[in-house]
Amino acid sequence: MAKLEGIRACVFDAYGTLFDVHAPVAKLAQEIGEKADALSKTWRQKQLEYSWLRSLMGVHADFWHVTGDALDYALAFHGIEDPGLKDELMVLYLKLDAYPDAKAALETLKSRNMRLGILSNGSPSMLEAAVRSAGLEKLIDQVLSVEDVGIYKPSRRVYRLAMQKFVLPDAPSICFVSSNTWDAQAAAQFGFQVVRIDRFGLPDDKIPGKPAAKVKSLSELPALL
Ligand code: 2OP
Repeated sequence: MAKLEGIRACVFDAYGTLFDVHAPVAKLAQEIGEKADALSKTWRQKQLEYSWLRSLMGVHADFWHVTGDALDYALAFHGIEDPGLKDELMVLYLKLDAYPDAKAALETLKSRNMRLGILSNGSPSMLEAAVRSAGLEKLIDQVLSVEDVGIYKPSRRVYRLAMQKFVLPDAPSICFVSSNTWDAQAAAQFGFQVVRIDRFGLPDDKIPGKPAAKVKSLSELPALL
């Protein structure tokens, strides 16, 4: 695969890309029982839907709030009544596992003096907790949250924030890395050079935007830069 040229900073999506959003439910799978996988999928899907809906409605609430609302919906949808489960899952969301390929890929890029960032829907306190618990804090130069602009991805205002914070006036000088198809494609449409981490062999979304490269894991990223 051809290398990306002219990259001056590498900016990562957080949830689903560096951090495994299904880890909290997986940790309590025995307690939750056979609905565990479906619960986790509904939780994630509603979390994203609510972020998009709130952005269109012009009624912002931070990602902690949206994540809690989505979990309330998912528990109700699957008919799970377990007082205390919501709080347990939310606490686990602050200590998400990083995917096993994340740290080594970041270390390799850091050793080459690449500037590294996170650009995420997450609120600053959620992101700080996740980065710390995964031991990534020394590797990431800038943790950027949509809270600075008050609207969620895929608003162009969010992607523009990365250019502002890294003081890079040309979008293609940023390599944006995401496992979320819609995020990868929207960031490519915005103008970043995008690497989609296709962990699960998903087709592209039927929206504009074409990532520059698609690889199966973060381990393959350094070879592209
Ligand atoms: C993130 O912004 C989209 O959840 C994803 O981290």
